[in-house]
Amino acid sequence: MSYLGIDIGTSAVKALLIDAEGRSVASASASLEVSRPHADWSEQAPDGWIKATGAALDELRVKSAAELGRLRGIGLSGQMHGAVLLDPSDRPLRPAILWNDGRSAAECAALTEREPRFHSLGGNLVMPGFTAPKLEWVRRHEPAIFAKTTKVLLPKDYVRLWLTGEYVCDMSDAAGTLWMDVAERDWSEPLLAATGLSRAHMPRLVEGTEVSGTLRSGLAARWGIDGHPTVAGGGGDNAASACGIGAVRPGEAFLSLGTSGVLFVSNARYSPNTKSAVHAFCHALPKTWHQMGVILSAAASLEWLAGITGRTAAELVAECEGDREPPAPDAPLFLPYLSGERTPHNDALARGAFVGLAHVSDRRALTRAVLEGVAFAFADCLEVLSAAGTEVGRVTAVGGGSRSHVWLETISSALGITMDVPEEGELGGAYGAARLGLIAAERADPFAICTPPKLVEIIEPNRPLADALAPRLDRWRKLYRLQKEIRI
Ligand code: XUL
Repeated sequence: MSYLGIDIGTSAVKALLIDAEGRSVASASASLEVSRPHADWSEQAPDGWIKATGAALDELRVKSAAELGRLRGIGLSGQMHGAVLLDPSDRPLRPAILWNDGRSAAECAALTEREPRFHSLGGNLVMPGFTAPKLEWVRRHEPAIFAKTTKVLLPKDYVRLWLTGEYVCDMSDAAGTLWMDVAERDWSEPLLAATGLSRAHMPRLVEGTEVSGTLRSGLAARWGIDGHPTVAGGGGDNAASACGIGAVRPGEAFLSLGTSGVLFVSNARYSPNTKSAVHAFCHALPKTWHQMGVILSAAASLEWLAGITGRTAAELVAECEGDREPPAPDAPLFLPYLSGERTPHNDALARGAFVGLAHVSDRRALTRAVLEGVAFAFADCLEVLSAAGTEVGRVTAVGGGSRSHVWLETISSALGITMDVPEEGELGGAYGAARLGLIAAERADPFAICTPPKLVEIIEPNRPLADALAPRLDRWRKLYRLQKEIRI
Protein backbone atom coordinates (compact mmCIF):
# COMPACT_ATOMS: atom_id res chain seq x y z
CA MET A 1 0.00 0.00 0.00
CA SER A 2 1.18 3.58 -0.58
CA TYR A 3 -0.09 7.09 0.20
CA LEU A 4 0.66 10.32 -1.58
CA GLY A 5 1.02 13.89 -0.30
CA ILE A 6 0.81 16.74 -2.82
CA ASP A 7 1.85 20.21 -1.61
CA ILE A 8 0.87 23.14 -3.85
CA GLY A 9 3.58 25.58 -2.72
CA THR A 10 4.40 29.04 -4.01
CA SER A 11 7.70 28.15 -5.67
CA ALA A 12 7.00 24.46 -6.46
CA VAL A 13 4.54 21.58 -6.35
CA LYS A 14 6.01 18.71 -4.31
CA ALA A 15 4.70 15.13 -4.42
CA LEU A 16 5.83 12.62 -1.79
CA LEU A 17 4.96 8.91 -1.67
CA ILE A 18 5.04 7.09 1.69
CA ASP A 19 4.47 3.45 2.67
CA ALA A 20 2.06 2.07 5.29
CA GLU A 21 4.70 2.63 8.01
CA GLY A 22 5.01 6.29 7.04
CA ARG A 23 8.48 5.96 5.47
CA SER A 24 9.23 8.13 2.43
CA VAL A 25 9.41 6.03 -0.72
CA ALA A 26 9.94 8.59 -3.49
CA SER A 27 9.40 12.27 -4.20
CA ALA A 28 9.19 14.58 -7.20
CA SER A 29 8.64 18.27 -7.74
CA ALA A 30 7.95 20.82 -10.46
CA SER A 31 8.67 24.52 -10.10
CA LEU A 32 6.20 27.42 -10.31
CA GLU A 33 6.58 31.09 -11.22
CA VAL A 34 5.06 34.04 -9.33
CA SER A 35 4.06 37.05 -11.37
CA ARG A 36 4.25 40.57 -9.87
CA PRO A 37 2.55 42.85 -12.43
CA HIS A 38 2.49 45.79 -9.97
CA ALA A 39 4.28 46.68 -6.73
CA ASP A 40 2.65 44.64 -3.90
CA TRP A 41 0.84 42.28 -6.32
CA SER A 42 1.57 38.55 -6.31
CA GLU A 43 -0.30 36.24 -8.70
CA GLN A 44 -0.17 32.78 -10.26
CA ALA A 45 -2.10 31.10 -13.07
CA PRO A 46 -4.19 28.29 -11.47
CA ASP A 47 -3.57 26.05 -14.49
CA GLY A 48 0.17 26.26 -13.70
CA TRP A 49 -0.57 24.24 -10.51
CA ILE A 50 -2.39 21.57 -12.57
CA LYS A 51 0.47 21.37 -15.06
CA ALA A 52 3.08 21.15 -12.29
CA THR A 53 1.06 18.53 -10.34
CA GLY A 54 0.71 16.45 -13.53
CA ALA A 55 4.46 16.75 -14.21
CA ALA A 56 5.42 15.80 -10.62
CA LEU A 57 3.13 12.75 -10.71
CA ASP A 58 4.45 11.71 -14.16
CA GLU A 59 7.98 11.88 -12.67
CA LEU A 60 6.90 9.87 -9.63
CA ARG A 61 5.54 7.18 -11.95
CA VAL A 62 8.94 6.97 -13.68
CA LYS A 63 10.76 6.77 -10.33
CA SER A 64 8.42 4.47 -8.47
CA ALA A 65 5.80 2.86 -10.75
CA ALA A 66 5.12 -0.24 -8.63
CA GLU A 67 4.54 1.69 -5.37
CA LEU A 68 2.47 4.37 -7.11
CA GLY A 69 0.36 1.57 -8.63
CA ARG A 70 -0.61 0.49 -5.09
CA LEU A 71 -1.80 3.98 -4.08
CA ARG A 72 -4.76 3.98 -1.65
CA GLY A 73 -4.92 7.54 -0.35
CA ILE A 74 -3.96 11.07 -1.41
CA GLY A 75 -3.71 14.15 0.83
CA LEU A 76 -3.45 17.74 -0.35
CA SER A 77 -1.57 20.59 1.29
CA GLY A 78 -1.17 24.08 -0.12
CA GLN A 79 -0.19 27.70 0.15
CA MET A 80 -3.02 29.28 2.13
CA HIS A 81 -5.33 32.25 1.42
CA GLY A 82 -4.99 32.44 -2.42
CA ALA A 83 -8.19 33.47 -4.28
CA VAL A 84 -9.17 31.36 -7.33
CA LEU A 85 -12.31 32.77 -9.02
CA LEU A 86 -14.20 30.34 -11.27
CA ASP A 87 -16.91 30.88 -13.90
CA PRO A 88 -19.88 28.47 -14.34
CA SER A 89 -17.69 26.16 -16.48
CA ASP A 90 -15.02 26.01 -13.74
CA ARG A 91 -12.59 28.16 -15.75
CA PRO A 92 -10.46 30.66 -13.77
CA LEU A 93 -11.70 34.20 -14.48
CA ARG A 94 -8.35 35.84 -13.66
CA PRO A 95 -4.95 34.85 -12.19
CA ALA A 96 -5.11 33.73 -8.55
CA ILE A 97 -4.25 36.46 -6.00
CA LEU A 98 -1.74 34.92 -3.53
CA TRP A 99 -1.10 34.97 0.25
CA ASN A 100 1.76 37.45 -0.08
CA ASP A 101 -0.18 39.95 -2.23
CA GLY A 102 -0.54 43.30 -0.45
CA ARG A 103 -2.93 45.25 -2.71
CA SER A 104 -6.00 45.14 -0.49
CA ALA A 105 -5.15 47.38 2.53
CA ALA A 106 -8.05 49.79 1.76
CA GLU A 107 -10.46 46.84 1.39
CA CYS A 108 -9.31 45.47 4.79
CA ALA A 109 -10.27 48.78 6.42
CA ALA A 110 -13.64 48.81 4.60
CA LEU A 111 -14.52 45.22 5.61
CA THR A 112 -13.51 45.82 9.25
CA GLU A 113 -15.76 48.87 9.34
CA ARG A 114 -18.66 47.05 7.63
CA GLU A 115 -18.61 43.84 9.70
CA PRO A 116 -16.94 43.83 13.15
CA ARG A 117 -17.71 40.11 13.47
CA PHE A 118 -14.68 39.35 11.25
CA HIS A 119 -12.80 39.55 14.58
CA SER A 120 -15.17 37.57 16.80
CA LEU A 121 -16.43 34.89 14.35
CA GLY A 122 -13.49 34.89 11.93
CA GLY A 123 -10.97 35.03 14.79
CA ASN A 124 -8.49 37.21 12.94
CA LEU A 125 -7.74 40.76 11.93
CA VAL A 126 -8.73 41.47 8.33
CA MET A 127 -5.23 41.46 6.79
CA PRO A 128 -4.28 41.80 3.09
CA GLY A 129 -2.83 38.26 3.11
CA PHE A 130 -6.25 36.66 3.69
CA THR A 131 -8.87 35.78 1.02
CA ALA A 132 -11.90 37.94 1.91
CA PRO A 133 -10.22 41.34 1.26
CA LYS A 134 -8.91 40.02 -2.08
CA LEU A 135 -12.51 39.34 -3.21
CA GLU A 136 -13.54 42.78 -1.97
CA TRP A 137 -10.73 44.22 -4.13
CA VAL A 138 -12.06 42.34 -7.19
CA ARG A 139 -15.59 43.54 -6.41
CA ARG A 140 -14.38 47.17 -6.34
CA HIS A 141 -11.82 47.11 -9.15
CA GLU A 142 -12.98 44.35 -11.52
CA PRO A 143 -16.80 44.31 -11.09
CA ALA A 144 -17.44 42.39 -14.33
CA ILE A 145 -15.23 39.53 -13.12
CA PHE A 146 -16.82 39.60 -9.67
CA ALA A 147 -20.29 39.36 -11.26
CA LYS A 148 -19.30 36.25 -13.26
CA THR A 149 -17.76 34.45 -10.24
CA THR A 150 -19.74 31.34 -9.29
CA LYS A 151 -17.17 29.58 -7.06
CA VAL A 152 -14.19 30.76 -5.01
CA LEU A 153 -11.57 28.09 -4.28
CA LEU A 154 -8.21 27.98 -2.50
CA PRO A 155 -5.15 26.82 -4.48
CA LYS A 156 -5.04 23.17 -3.35
CA ASP A 157 -8.83 22.89 -3.83
CA TYR A 158 -8.58 23.96 -7.47
CA VAL A 159 -6.16 21.04 -7.90
CA ARG A 160 -8.64 18.82 -5.99
CA LEU A 161 -11.37 19.82 -8.47
CA TRP A 162 -9.14 18.55 -11.27
CA LEU A 163 -8.25 15.34 -9.39
CA THR A 164 -11.78 14.42 -8.20
CA GLY A 165 -14.37 16.69 -9.86
CA GLU A 166 -15.50 17.86 -6.37
CA TYR A 167 -15.69 21.35 -4.84
CA VAL A 168 -14.36 20.70 -1.34
CA CYS A 169 -12.20 22.54 1.20
CA ASP A 170 -10.82 21.38 4.56
CA MET A 171 -11.34 23.32 7.81
CA SER A 172 -7.74 24.56 8.31
CA ASP A 173 -7.45 26.17 4.88
CA ALA A 174 -11.05 27.44 4.97
CA ALA A 175 -10.31 29.32 8.22
CA GLY A 176 -7.68 31.36 6.33
CA THR A 177 -10.35 32.83 4.03
CA LEU A 178 -11.96 34.84 6.92
CA TRP A 179 -15.40 33.61 5.79
CA MET A 180 -15.60 30.97 8.48
CA ASP A 181 -17.14 30.81 11.89
CA VAL A 182 -13.93 29.28 13.22
CA ALA A 183 -15.36 28.06 16.54
CA GLU A 184 -18.31 26.33 14.74
CA ARG A 185 -16.16 24.95 11.88
CA ASP A 186 -18.69 26.16 9.27
CA TRP A 187 -19.02 28.96 6.70
CA SER A 188 -20.38 32.16 8.23
CA GLU A 189 -23.24 33.71 6.24
CA PRO A 190 -22.76 37.25 7.70
CA LEU A 191 -19.03 37.24 6.88
CA LEU A 192 -19.71 36.01 3.32
CA ALA A 193 -22.48 38.60 2.88
CA ALA A 194 -20.09 41.39 3.94
CA THR A 195 -18.09 40.54 0.80
CA GLY A 196 -21.15 40.20 -1.47
CA LEU A 197 -20.93 36.37 -1.47
CA SER A 198 -23.08 33.49 -0.20
CA ARG A 199 -22.64 29.84 0.80
CA ALA A 200 -23.34 28.86 -2.84
CA HIS A 201 -19.99 30.41 -3.84
CA MET A 202 -18.12 28.19 -1.37
CA PRO A 203 -16.95 24.57 -1.61
CA ARG A 204 -18.31 21.89 0.76
CA LEU A 205 -16.35 21.61 4.03
CA VAL A 206 -14.74 18.43 5.38
CA GLU A 207 -12.19 17.73 8.11
CA GLY A 208 -8.61 17.24 6.90
CA THR A 209 -8.81 13.56 7.86
CA GLU A 210 -12.09 12.88 6.01
CA VAL A 211 -12.59 11.61 2.46
CA SER A 212 -13.36 14.45 0.01
CA GLY A 213 -13.67 12.33 -3.16
CA THR A 214 -11.88 9.73 -5.28
CA LEU A 215 -9.27 10.10 -8.00
CA ARG A 216 -10.84 10.30 -11.49
CA SER A 217 -10.39 7.15 -13.62
CA GLY A 218 -8.56 8.95 -16.42
CA LEU A 219 -5.90 10.21 -14.02
CA ALA A 220 -5.61 6.84 -12.24
CA ALA A 221 -4.94 5.27 -15.66
CA ARG A 222 -2.39 8.01 -16.57
CA TRP A 223 -0.32 7.15 -13.46
CA GLY A 224 -0.83 3.38 -13.60
CA ILE A 225 -2.87 3.28 -10.38
CA ASP A 226 -5.11 0.26 -9.67
CA GLY A 227 -8.56 1.23 -8.38
CA HIS A 228 -9.66 4.65 -7.22
CA PRO A 229 -7.63 6.08 -4.31
CA THR A 230 -9.50 8.33 -1.91
CA VAL A 231 -8.54 11.99 -1.62
CA ALA A 232 -8.50 13.34 1.96
CA GLY A 233 -9.52 16.87 2.94
CA GLY A 234 -5.84 17.67 3.64
CA GLY A 235 -4.79 21.01 5.09
CA GLY A 236 -3.32 24.47 4.64
CA ASP A 237 0.47 24.08 4.42
CA ASN A 238 1.11 25.02 8.07
CA ALA A 239 -1.56 22.70 9.50
CA ALA A 240 -0.39 19.91 7.18
CA SER A 241 3.26 20.44 8.25
CA ALA A 242 2.09 20.22 11.87
CA CYS A 243 0.56 16.79 11.11
CA GLY A 244 3.90 15.80 9.56
CA ILE A 245 5.98 16.67 12.64
CA GLY A 246 3.41 15.64 15.24
CA ALA A 247 2.32 19.08 16.49
CA VAL A 248 -1.30 18.01 17.00
CA ARG A 249 -1.99 17.91 20.76
CA PRO A 250 -2.66 21.08 22.77
CA GLY A 251 0.58 23.00 23.36
CA GLU A 252 2.62 21.07 20.75
CA ALA A 253 4.38 23.62 18.58
CA PHE A 254 6.72 24.16 15.66
CA LEU A 255 8.82 27.04 14.45
CA SER A 256 9.36 27.23 10.70
CA LEU A 257 12.32 29.10 9.20
CA GLY A 258 11.23 29.22 5.57
CA THR A 259 10.90 32.22 3.25
CA SER A 260 8.40 33.43 5.84
CA GLY A 261 8.58 32.42 9.50
CA VAL A 262 5.81 30.70 11.43
CA LEU A 263 5.41 29.97 15.14
CA PHE A 264 2.56 27.41 15.24
CA VAL A 265 0.83 26.00 18.33
CA SER A 266 -2.01 23.44 18.53
CA ASN A 267 -4.96 24.33 20.77
CA ALA A 268 -7.79 22.30 22.28
CA ARG A 269 -10.18 25.17 21.57
CA TYR A 270 -10.64 28.25 19.39
CA SER A 271 -8.32 30.93 20.92
CA PRO A 272 -8.29 34.27 19.07
CA ASN A 273 -6.19 37.34 19.97
CA THR A 274 -6.94 39.82 17.20
CA LYS A 275 -5.31 42.76 18.99
CA SER A 276 -1.84 41.52 18.11
CA ALA A 277 -2.41 39.87 14.73
CA VAL A 278 -2.27 36.33 16.11
CA HIS A 279 -3.78 33.96 13.53
CA ALA A 280 -6.45 31.65 15.06
CA PHE A 281 -7.51 28.86 12.68
CA CYS A 282 -8.95 25.33 12.69
CA HIS A 283 -6.32 22.56 12.68
CA ALA A 284 -6.50 19.78 10.08
CA LEU A 285 -7.65 17.25 12.72
CA PRO A 286 -11.26 17.25 14.01
CA LYS A 287 -12.07 19.27 17.16
CA THR A 288 -8.59 20.82 17.13
CA TRP A 289 -7.57 24.43 16.49
CA HIS A 290 -4.27 26.25 16.25
CA GLN A 291 -2.71 29.67 16.59
CA MET A 292 0.17 31.10 14.58
CA GLY A 293 2.38 34.12 14.60
CA VAL A 294 3.49 34.74 10.99
CA ILE A 295 6.48 36.90 10.01
CA LEU A 296 6.85 37.65 6.33
CA SER A 297 10.67 37.67 5.89
CA ALA A 298 12.59 34.99 7.84
CA ALA A 299 14.98 33.14 5.49
CA ALA A 300 13.97 35.83 2.97
CA SER A 301 15.94 38.38 5.07
CA LEU A 302 19.07 36.23 4.92
CA GLU A 303 18.55 35.66 1.18
CA TRP A 304 18.33 39.42 0.73
CA LEU A 305 21.67 39.96 2.55
CA ALA A 306 23.21 37.11 0.52
CA GLY A 307 22.02 38.76 -2.70
CA ILE A 308 23.56 42.15 -1.94
CA THR A 309 26.85 40.74 -0.56
CA GLY A 310 27.35 38.32 -3.45
CA ARG A 311 27.39 35.26 -1.17
CA THR A 312 24.92 32.43 -0.68
CA ALA A 313 22.85 32.28 2.50
CA ALA A 314 24.72 29.07 3.45
CA GLU A 315 28.09 30.87 3.10
CA LEU A 316 26.94 33.77 5.28
CA VAL A 317 25.74 31.43 8.02
CA ALA A 318 28.90 29.31 7.80
CA GLU A 319 30.97 32.44 8.63
CA CYS A 320 29.07 32.69 11.96
CA GLU A 321 28.67 29.01 12.85
CA GLY A 322 31.81 28.75 15.00
CA ASP A 323 31.16 32.08 16.70
CA ARG A 324 30.41 31.35 20.35
CA GLU A 325 30.87 34.92 21.70
CA PRO A 326 27.62 36.76 22.51
CA PRO A 327 27.11 39.97 20.48
CA ALA A 328 28.76 43.12 21.88
CA PRO A 329 26.25 45.59 23.40
CA ASP A 330 26.90 48.01 20.51
CA ALA A 331 26.67 45.43 17.68
CA PRO A 332 24.27 46.46 14.87
CA LEU A 333 20.53 45.71 15.10
CA PHE A 334 18.33 44.64 12.15
CA LEU A 335 14.58 45.00 11.55
CA PRO A 336 13.42 42.20 9.19
CA TYR A 337 10.34 43.96 7.78
CA LEU A 338 11.49 43.84 4.13
CA SER A 339 7.96 43.17 2.89
CA GLY A 340 5.97 44.61 5.79
CA GLU A 341 4.88 42.49 8.75
CA ARG A 342 1.84 40.49 9.88
CA THR A 343 2.40 39.45 13.54
CA PRO A 344 2.38 41.48 15.73
CA HIS A 345 2.18 44.77 13.78
CA ASN A 346 -0.22 44.03 10.87
CA ASP A 347 1.65 46.72 8.92
CA ALA A 348 2.13 46.21 5.18
CA LEU A 349 4.16 49.44 5.00
CA ALA A 350 6.75 48.55 7.69
CA ARG A 351 10.26 48.34 6.24
CA GLY A 352 13.61 46.81 7.22
CA ALA A 353 16.60 48.65 8.75
CA PHE A 354 20.15 48.22 10.01
CA VAL A 355 20.89 50.46 12.99
CA GLY A 356 24.19 51.09 14.78
CA LEU A 357 26.63 50.54 11.89
CA ALA A 358 30.30 51.46 12.50
CA HIS A 359 33.52 51.09 10.46
CA VAL A 360 34.10 47.75 12.18
CA SER A 361 30.71 46.36 11.09
CA ASP A 362 31.79 43.64 8.68
CA ARG A 363 29.74 41.09 6.73
CA ARG A 364 29.71 38.69 9.68
CA ALA A 365 28.33 41.37 12.02
CA LEU A 366 25.53 42.07 9.53
CA THR A 367 24.71 38.37 9.23
CA ARG A 368 24.57 38.02 13.03
CA ALA A 369 22.27 41.06 13.15
CA VAL A 370 19.94 39.48 10.54
CA LEU A 371 19.79 36.12 12.38
CA GLU A 372 19.16 37.99 15.63
CA GLY A 373 16.54 40.35 14.09
CA VAL A 374 14.53 37.35 12.83
CA ALA A 375 14.89 35.72 16.29
CA PHE A 376 13.54 38.93 17.87
CA ALA A 377 10.57 38.93 15.45
CA PHE A 378 9.79 35.40 16.69
CA ALA A 379 10.12 36.70 20.29
CA ASP A 380 7.36 39.20 19.41
CA CYS A 381 5.21 36.32 18.10
CA LEU A 382 5.82 34.34 21.30
CA GLU A 383 4.85 37.34 23.41
CA VAL A 384 1.49 37.84 21.68
CA LEU A 385 0.72 34.11 21.74
CA SER A 386 1.32 34.16 25.46
CA ALA A 387 -0.95 37.23 25.75
CA ALA A 388 -3.60 35.06 24.04
CA GLY A 389 -3.15 32.53 26.87
CA THR A 390 -0.82 30.09 25.09
CA GLU A 391 2.46 29.14 26.76
CA VAL A 392 5.12 27.65 24.50
CA GLY A 393 8.23 26.17 26.12
CA ARG A 394 9.36 23.79 23.39
CA VAL A 395 9.12 23.77 19.58
CA THR A 396 10.23 21.54 16.72
CA ALA A 397 12.41 23.48 14.26
CA VAL A 398 11.53 23.02 10.59
CA GLY A 399 12.22 24.69 7.22
CA GLY A 400 15.44 25.41 5.32
CA GLY A 401 16.87 27.78 7.99
CA SER A 402 16.63 25.07 10.66
CA ARG A 403 19.87 23.55 9.34
CA SER A 404 21.80 26.41 11.01
CA HIS A 405 22.85 25.69 14.61
CA VAL A 406 23.83 29.31 15.32
CA TRP A 407 20.41 30.56 14.14
CA LEU A 408 18.50 28.00 16.23
CA GLU A 409 20.66 28.75 19.29
CA THR A 410 20.02 32.49 18.86
CA ILE A 411 16.26 31.87 18.64
CA SER A 412 16.28 29.46 21.59
CA SER A 413 18.21 31.99 23.72
CA ALA A 414 16.13 35.04 22.67
CA LEU A 415 12.83 33.22 23.32
CA GLY A 416 13.93 31.11 26.31
CA ILE A 417 12.58 27.91 24.72
CA THR A 418 13.91 24.43 23.89
CA MET A 419 14.23 23.58 20.20
CA ASP A 420 13.96 19.99 18.95
CA VAL A 421 15.76 19.45 15.66
CA PRO A 422 14.25 16.55 13.64
CA GLU A 423 16.09 14.26 11.25
CA GLU A 424 14.21 15.53 8.20
CA GLY A 425 12.95 19.00 9.06
CA GLU A 426 12.30 19.89 5.45
CA LEU A 427 9.64 17.37 4.42
CA GLY A 428 7.02 20.04 5.08
CA GLY A 429 3.39 20.01 4.03
CA ALA A 430 3.69 17.11 1.55
CA TYR A 431 4.59 14.65 4.34
CA GLY A 432 1.73 15.78 6.58
CA ALA A 433 -0.63 15.61 3.60
CA ALA A 434 0.46 12.03 2.87
CA ARG A 435 -0.31 11.15 6.51
CA LEU A 436 -3.78 12.73 6.13
CA GLY A 437 -4.26 10.65 2.95
CA LEU A 438 -3.38 7.50 4.92
CA ILE A 439 -5.72 8.40 7.80
CA ALA A 440 -8.66 9.02 5.44
CA ALA A 441 -8.06 5.88 3.36
CA GLU A 442 -7.58 3.50 6.31
CA ARG A 443 -9.85 5.28 8.85
CA ALA A 444 -6.79 5.33 11.10
CA ASP A 445 -6.54 7.17 14.44
CA PRO A 446 -5.02 10.59 13.58
CA PHE A 447 -3.11 10.76 16.87
CA ALA A 448 -1.54 7.34 16.26
CA ILE A 449 -0.30 8.45 12.81
CA CYS A 450 0.72 12.09 13.48
CA THR A 451 3.63 11.23 15.80
CA PRO A 452 6.83 13.27 16.32
CA PRO A 453 9.88 12.51 14.16
CA LYS A 454 13.28 11.17 15.28
CA LEU A 455 15.42 14.02 16.69
CA VAL A 456 19.05 14.65 15.84
CA GLU A 457 19.65 17.45 18.35
CA ILE A 458 18.00 19.32 21.23
CA ILE A 459 19.02 22.98 21.60
CA GLU A 460 18.57 24.72 24.97
CA PRO A 461 18.96 28.47 25.64
CA ASN A 462 22.63 29.45 26.08
CA ARG A 463 22.77 31.51 29.30
CA PRO A 464 25.52 34.07 28.39
CA LEU A 465 23.89 34.56 24.97
CA ALA A 466 20.42 34.98 26.53
CA ASP A 467 21.83 37.57 28.99
CA ALA A 468 23.39 39.53 26.11
CA LEU A 469 20.22 39.36 23.96
CA ALA A 470 17.70 40.51 26.59
CA PRO A 471 18.71 44.23 26.66
CA ARG A 472 19.18 44.18 22.87
CA LEU A 473 15.59 42.92 22.42
CA ASP A 474 14.31 45.88 24.48
CA ARG A 475 16.18 48.35 22.24
CA TRP A 476 15.12 46.46 19.07
CA ARG A 477 11.42 46.72 20.04
CA LYS A 478 11.74 50.53 20.22
CA LEU A 479 13.09 50.65 16.66
CA TYR A 480 9.77 49.65 15.03
CA ARG A 481 7.99 52.52 16.76
CA LEU A 482 10.72 55.00 15.71
CA GLN A 483 10.70 53.67 12.17
CA LYS A 484 6.93 54.17 11.98
CA GLU A 485 7.31 57.75 13.18
CA ILE A 486 9.84 58.72 10.49
CA ARG A 487 8.22 56.69 7.67
CA ILE A 488 8.87 58.17 4.25
C1 XUL B 1 0.13 31.58 6.52
C2 XUL B 1 0.72 32.07 5.24
C3 XUL B 1 1.82 31.29 4.60
C4 XUL B 1 1.28 30.60 3.38
C5 XUL B 1 2.40 30.25 2.43
O1 XUL B 1 -0.83 32.44 7.04
O2 XUL B 1 0.34 33.05 4.67
O3 XUL B 1 2.46 30.43 5.50
O4 XUL B 1 0.47 29.51 3.74
O5 XUL B 1 2.77 29.03 2.30
